[in-house]
Amino acid sequence: MKIFVTRKIPDPGLDLLRKEYKLDINPYDRPLSKDEITKGLKGKDGLLCLLTDQIDKEVIYSEPRLKTIANYAVGYDNVDIKAATERGIPVSNTPKVLTETTAEMTWALLLSVARRIVEGDTYTRNGKFKGWAPMLMLGQDITNKTLGIIGAGRIGTAVALKSKGFNMKVLYYNSRHNEILDRELGAQKVEFLDLLKKSDFISLHVPLNDSTYHMISEKELKMMKKTSVLINTSRGSVVDEQALVKALKEKWIFGVGLDVYEHEPRISEELSKLDNVILQPHSASATYETRTKMAIMAAENMIAGLKGEIPPNCVNKEVFKQKLGKEIH
Ligand code: GLV
Ligand code: GLV
Repeated sequence: MKIFVTRKIPDPGLDLLRKEYKLDINPYDRPLSKDEITKGLKGKDGLLCLLTDQIDKEVIYSEPRLKTIANYAVGYDNVDIKAATERGIPVSNTPKVLTETTAEMTWALLLSVARRIVEGDTYTRNGKFKGWAPMLMLGQDITNKTLGIIGAGRIGTAVALKSKGFNMKVLYYNSRHNEILDRELGAQKVEFLDLLKKSDFISLHVPLNDSTYHMISEKELKMMKKTSVLINTSRGSVVDEQALVKALKEKWIFGVGLDVYEHEPRISEELSKLDNVILQPHSASATYETRTKMAIMAAENMIAGLKGEIPPNCVNKEVFKQKLGKEIH
């Protein structure tokens, strides 16, 4: 069996696959176009893809041999899961291994925005520092403040747990109670608007779907405190980027830390001109250790999928019910 890999990932993952299968790997150091992906997929049984690849219905139906899709990311909004399920193709992701790493980036952004780290570095580098000054680079305290977590899944939980050292009050918005947060932090599950109004730091940890698209727009930004900080390490489209630019320009909130954008890799030009935002290149899971673990996990998912087994991190397990159903009848 053959696998198409849309971009080179760390070798420990590729080596696992090479032991049993023939790999065709994108030779370029750039994402492929949809045409290139469709072409590469010809005659392949497995597709190992990235969050930068739009794996839509057309791509999914383009190769009859295709048996499984392993997405090298925890988020899988780039794959048309409905179409894959319709075709009986299991899709997998790489959860858990990147939880702490992503939570760490969230904290790096939170601290950096609150204390204006990037601005201060640029200022000092450029020779503007003329000595200690009472009103120079004033930021926001973090200790004893309120942290609002939107989406208390694995990553949201890890971010919240790391607030212990800062003795923060934790609020969260989530469909279900999060027992870990309730027990460990005495966190409070609150209504969405309540969280926006009461939090000093707001961090987004929801997957992107119809119900979370533009969850933070003008109205929501206006409800936040003027001193608040917003962090987004989830998906760009959870936030209305144009509304965000307006909020930053007009200082509705104190600052923003972004790892993700609505139209990646394109970034609203105005964002890069503003001081009260820190921009990262979608690198929250980017550590040597985590990217290696993700590669191994994607490979293990792929191998299980090609063997007709349920991939350990399958996101559409109903495929197997359908398959079983077909075999039975
Ligand atoms: C990164 O954004 C991921 O979903 O893994
Ligand atoms: C999302 O997959 C999370 O781990 O919170």
